[in-house]
Amino acid sequence: MNLLGRDFLRELDFTKEELLGLLDLAALLKAERRAGAELQRLSGKRIALLFEKTSTRTRISFEVAAAEQGAATTYLDPQSSQLGHKESAADTARVLSRLFDAIEYRGSSQAIVDTLAEYADIPVYNGLTDAWHPTQMLADFLTMRECAGQDFTKISYAYLGDARNNMGNSLLVTGAILGCDVRIVAPKALWPDAAVQAAAHTRAQESGARILLTENPDEGLAGVDAVHTDVWVSMGEPAEVWAERIALLRPYRVDAAMMKRSGRPDTVFMHCLPAFHDDQTAVGKKVAAEFGLTGGVEVTHEVFEAPTSVVFDQAENRMHTIKAVLVATLAGA
Ligand code: CP
Ligand code: NVA
Repeated sequence: MNLLGRDFLRELDFTKEELLGLLDLAALLKAERRAGAELQRLSGKRIALLFEKTSTRTRISFEVAAAEQGAATTYLDPQSSQLGHKESAADTARVLSRLFDAIEYRGSSQAIVDTLAEYADIPVYNGLTDAWHPTQMLADFLTMRECAGQDFTKISYAYLGDARNNMGNSLLVTGAILGCDVRIVAPKALWPDAAVQAAAHTRAQESGARILLTENPDEGLAGVDAVHTDVWVSMGEPAEVWAERIALLRPYRVDAAMMKRSGRPDTVFMHCLPAFHDDQTAVGKKVAAEFGLTGGVEVTHEVFEAPTSVVFDQAENRMHTIKAVLVATLAGA
């Protein structure tokens, strides 16, 4: 695997071998860190972190990964920089290229991160757009490998919820690239769009992946190693869509009865986070009260806190996998 100088914009830009190489590197870096034997491969590198949307995990993962490898980060958002409102992506990319070694971008538009990559002469990483969440995928697939074994052709998982945006798209195509048994379980109105489905089917033909899109949770969850979900209303969507989204997704809430449909006691629960599983957030509390979703919105507190929930392993793996992207693209290792 040689990813020196490469962008990380969407999973479809990568071969199966390249994604597996990044996961192997992440596992190595995680083990090195645990052993207190981490080598610094990025000394003197500088990474710009552009966030047009809020973040906890993605930001801290880039910051900690960079620091542990000897690199420095600079955080920029639209409030404290010219980004978006006064300066274009093309101009921003060329300015940052003069001072930095890499750029991370999070925002709504895939076109913006693509433009940054086109105009920058340094690697650009997608830290989430409405279309894709590729750094999340590395963490999710590292976590599934840790839970369900090394061979992705033997791993099955279901994604329940809004499957038309970043998490649904990314879980569909990444499993297709890696050869998994992938089930998208959602009302048809919320399935990934036709182009994403077609890309997944093409990659599945190469990898041997099995792909199922279904409205039926019994069919979708049967025998799976992992059940994924995500918030039902994503960043940037107006609050008015909650009513319509809940009407569509209420039957797909991940509660204990839903988990039982896998037919296995060891099926793990996964969520990219943040999650609305209790009344400890302003939005979660309001939505649960307004729509009578006591005990959690997209997932119940019971499932979230169960021993089979691996959500905090996933969260930790964001850092190890983002570190792998930095090391592979900036040090070629
Ligand atoms: N999963 C994820 O991307 O988390 P943040 O929004 O906190 O970065
Ligand atoms: N679909 C969610 C993912 C958050 C990490 C969002 O875009 O808000």
